[in-house]
Amino acid sequence: MCGIVGYVGGRPALDIVVEGLARLEYRGYDSAGVAVLADGELVTAKRAGKLVNLRNALAEQPPPPGTLGMGHTRWATHGVPNDRNAHPHTDCTGSVAVIHNGIIENFAALRGELEEAGHKLGSDTDTEAVAHLLEDELKAGGDLAAAMRRVCGRLEGAFTLVAMYTGDPDLVVGARRNSPLVVGVGDGENFLASDVAAFIAHTRDAIELGQDQVVELRASGVRVTDFEGRPAEVKEYHVDWDVSAAEKGGYDYFMLKEIAEQPRAVADTLLGRIGTDGRLTLDEMRLSDRALREVDKIIVVACGTSYHAGLIAKYAIEHWAGLPCEVELASEFRYRDAILSPTTLVIAISQSGETMDALMAVRHAREQRAKILGICNVNGSTLPRECDGVLYTHAGPEIAVASTKAFLTQLVAVYLIALYIAQVRGTKWGDEVFAMVQLLERMPEKVDKVLETMEPVRELARSLSGEHCVLFLGRHVGFPVALEGALKLKELAYMHAEGFAAGELKHGPIALIEDGLPVVVVVPPRARDVLHDKIVSNIQEIRARGARTIVIAEEGDASVEPYADTLIRVPAVPTLLQPLVTTVPLQVFACELATAKGHDVDQPRNLAKSVTVE
Ligand code: G6P
Repeated sequence: MCGIVGYVGGRPALDIVVEGLARLEYRGYDSAGVAVLADGELVTAKRAGKLVNLRNALAEQPPPPGTLGMGHTRWATHGVPNDRNAHPHTDCTGSVAVIHNGIIENFAALRGELEEAGHKLGSDTDTEAVAHLLEDELKAGGDLAAAMRRVCGRLEGAFTLVAMYTGDPDLVVGARRNSPLVVGVGDGENFLASDVAAFIAHTRDAIELGQDQVVELRASGVRVTDFEGRPAEVKEYHVDWDVSAAEKGGYDYFMLKEIAEQPRAVADTLLGRIGTDGRLTLDEMRLSDRALREVDKIIVVACGTSYHAGLIAKYAIEHWAGLPCEVELASEFRYRDAILSPTTLVIAISQSGETMDALMAVRHAREQRAKILGICNVNGSTLPRECDGVLYTHAGPEIAVASTKAFLTQLVAVYLIALYIAQVRGTKWGDEVFAMVQLLERMPEKVDKVLETMEPVRELARSLSGEHCVLFLGRHVGFPVALEGALKLKELAYMHAEGFAAGELKHGPIALIEDGLPVVVVVPPRARDVLHDKIVSNIQEIRARGARTIVIAEEGDASVEPYADTLIRVPAVPTLLQPLVTTVPLQVFACELATAKGHDVDQPRNLAKSVTVE
């Protein structure tokens, strides 16, 4: 949510900043802006709408060249997304510029105080207050970093701030609390960004910034302190993917590329987790086997698509590990009186590792002394640092706002965790765990097979682009898949779409069925005959009421053929693993339907990929 880039070095800052913003646009695209320091003068440019508007403005009126710059792409919180509210914001003298991600909760009081003292505020944002506070602090003496530390001490809420000041033309200052900021370490140049994708074309060496830290970025080096000015310990890491992973690679949309990358992403997430003896080794878990044996309850917390992975985790954990498992929307978790103890394991799932709702749920669980395990895709993000252990998914950078490959790898991660706990607790024999792991290892090939057969799904999607509503039904792990199919369609095609547990249909939603209504049904494998037969009856019930049935069923399942208006085949796999193959056609369906409607599937309206506010 909001993308931030900062640069200092020997090259033209504007090019590097705008290129970085292009890679961060998935974080917000309500407006974009840049600031450059050239010949002691601070020049800003900003435009409402997507980055292309800013690019056009910069082409018409290029700012003077400078080697110090910063840029921002906005997901609006305070103030409508217009030119005036776009970042950077400047102080009364035009000598300080600030960009910000997050929400400053005490902004109203601060703005009031500043206005009373004679400051003229030109926007409706919380951010602008910071520019004026910095102005006052700089007037009182000291440098920009010291001013930033003092200002941060007055702010409540979540923020990443980056500032530049004409009084120190070699310096960019960043600060963070509860909001992401990473440093890219170059040779004679350094970078700041919300995400490494912004500078990956220039360097793969990064520094994680801790909570409540201020960073001073100069061409010659980087200095990190806490809000009191004490030097902080820095943790450097090397990013294990390169710039090609953050580019479209010939696809029209990142989403298409990310869907196609799924077999690889699943394989990469399994890599190195199975020892030569066939036993699972999850090294980054950092939770001892003893601690895991003591666990008597698991609670999974997550948001959006990650929450759907959590719903599937419940089935795997209860079935394999034999532990009670609850799943909770992270945004709701701390408002109920969940019963947590030191023997509760909380599993937090987040692709970005920056979702504020997930982080707050983790902090709540920590206060209750539960153990916490994270599942995360982004090395260097906040979530892994706040957990007792972490299992990284290796999906690579996911840039399209709607999650696809990260979801499949989250499923792999939850399967691995459930099997690992089963192995440690002895609820499954070693050979049973090994047999399941071997099946998991065959999944990339199965997902690949699904991808090869998607043309009829694309055709179907195009034929339905005039519809207003699509329903999705599933049972057991097919139910979260139905929820995920509906979410994809809402996110991308802006259509009314709902996922239901097929058995729940008769308790209300069946009233929605009318002539010609498209209903997608996820059919479980025939091996689970109780589930399978029930859903075949459900298909008949909706068809009898006029629904147009779109049935996803495993190869060789002839029993559904008479009731399916459209039949989508997936490879036969064990029931618990079936979401890995049944989700893929639903991603393709939503992506194609939205494209047919003329929507930008990488940047759906009103959404942002990384939601760093509550
Ligand atoms: C946003 C995105 C969703 C995503 C959710 C959770 O709402 O638009 O696609 O599933 O955040 O994100 P996380 O990074 O925590 O998995």
